[in-house]
Amino acid sequence: MMLLKLVAILLVFEASSASDCVKRTYAGDSFVCVCNAAKCDTLNIEKTVQPGYIAIYDSDQKTSRLDKTVVPVDEIKSRLYLNNEFTLNVNASDLKQKILGFGGTLTDGAAINIATLSDDLVKQLMNGYFGENGLEYNIARVPVGGSDSSVRAYSLDDTELDFDLEHFSLADEDIKYKLPLLKLALQLNPKFRAFGSAWSAPAWMKTNHALNGNGGLIWKPGDVYYKLWAKYYVKYLNAYLDKGFKFWGLTTENEPAEGIGGSIFNALALTPEQIRDWVKLDLGPALKAAACLDDPEAASYVSGIAYHWYSRNYPSSYQTLASIHDRYPDYFLLSSEAGWTGVASKYLGDWGRAEGYAIDILEGLQHWSTGWTDWTLAVDTAGGPNWAKNWVDSTIVINATSQEYYKNPMYYAMAHFTKFLPIGSTRVGSNVVNAPANVHTTSFITPNNTMVLILINTNNDHIDLTINGFAKVPVVTTLKPRSFRTMVISL
Ligand SMILES: *[C@@H]1O[C@H](CO)[C@@H](O)[C@H](O)[C@H]1NC(C)=O
Ligand SMILES: *[C@@H]1O[C@H](CO)[C@@H](O)[C@H](O)[C@H]1NC(C)=O
Ligand SMILES: *[C@@H]1O[C@H](CO)[C@@H](O)[C@H](O)[C@H]1NC(C)=O
Repeated sequence: MMLLKLVAILLVFEASSASDCVKRTYAGDSFVCVCNAAKCDTLNIEKTVQPGYIAIYDSDQKTSRLDKTVVPVDEIKSRLYLNNEFTLNVNASDLKQKILGFGGTLTDGAAINIATLSDDLVKQLMNGYFGENGLEYNIARVPVGGSDSSVRAYSLDDTELDFDLEHFSLADEDIKYKLPLLKLALQLNPKFRAFGSAWSAPAWMKTNHALNGNGGLIWKPGDVYYKLWAKYYVKYLNAYLDKGFKFWGLTTENEPAEGIGGSIFNALALTPEQIRDWVKLDLGPALKAAACLDDPEAASYVSGIAYHWYSRNYPSSYQTLASIHDRYPDYFLLSSEAGWTGVASKYLGDWGRAEGYAIDILEGLQHWSTGWTDWTLAVDTAGGPNWAKNWVDSTIVINATSQEYYKNPMYYAMAHFTKFLPIGSTRVGSNVVNAPANVHTTSFITPNNTMVLILINTNNDHIDLTINGFAKVPVVTTLKPRSFRTMVISL
């Protein structure tokens, strides 16, 4: 054990800090990186790795944020074989699913918070999410109309019994806040795509005549209200198109079970059968006729399955994901929402929350998910705005008063994936032998023919491991306590 550690520690070839973080400590057990007009760290990462070298990026609870080390393979090749050693075996010929993308949700609240910053800071923050020197997000989820993360409860047609949707119109939240940011995201990343999700239908289409609570659409799929609800989506997509933004896709409904349970915020109760029949009878045909989506596959109604993280259990939920994949291998799986709740200022710099993100992303990918979508891109220090007082945390917390924002450890957890797994990266099979508890691993080959390993250690101790099938020879490495690591090699 000791010998392995020495091998790993001594032979650092080149080290640098990828992220020039301005650290600040709050209540959390780690730190945030502070961004203001004067200073903000970037994720300007040189991604090419010379043959014969391994690039290693580390973030940990105590000190580092994507600190980079480059080591020659020869220097960390395994010098001895220990029977009980923790070993990761990667099989580069065992090709699995391809990455669709990573991103976050542009809620009304996020867009309103971002707009409290100066123009320069808006660009800096958006660059930090979508730009080359940021997380390189290529996905955004956009609530269709209002969600809880809005300053008010509304739909895009609140005129009673407006059966021709004559009064349908985009809100100020769309035109002044969300649209300009969507266009900016597309400028920052040409691969950027957005998908819409509605929280509630207009109250007048619903059995309980309210945006929240327990209510579904009046009557049944194929009938007038279900048709209207499909038409509402088409109107929405076309209204954005008129303003110069084309959506890539839609999900059928945000958390339909939330509506069945009785929700404090905007929701729509729909059973699986109602959704199936509505898509078949109403939404699918309406979208196909309107041709208002960017993805020709979406026109054939359904191309994927979206899921949220809220009732996850490790490992059973991930096994469920894998069994869904086994039953429906032609449909992609995508995590379309994940986020922590609570008053954001109380969790600034919380490392455990970053670990929660990293584990969910990694285990999702290991079980056939093709990407991951964070919840609201930015909250204020209270965790709002939120008309239903459903305060939440976020990767970025904005302090409008001081014109600064804080990048939580979650931001860097995302970076370990988003920076290194471009669209089209393919997961490759791997297995672990003698793995200690609380260590997670995944492996990918990118379209640029690099192999990427991502490793999580939530133990308070160093963990040594041997890796086979990554470099040409077995290599040994040591994970820092409470850390995320990304390792890159050219094939
Ligand atoms: C690697 O994966 C390929 C393709 O699935 C398989 O044929 C081969 O047996 C695997 N190799 C090992 C050592 O498991
Ligand atoms: C936000 O800025 C104000 C004004 O500078 C300051 O008093 C407050 O402590 C800041 N909040 C946080 C969470 O840093
Ligand atoms: C992939 O390689 C091309 C050509 O060398 C380069 O322009 C591009 O930036 C690379 N992409 C990534 C994600 O590294």
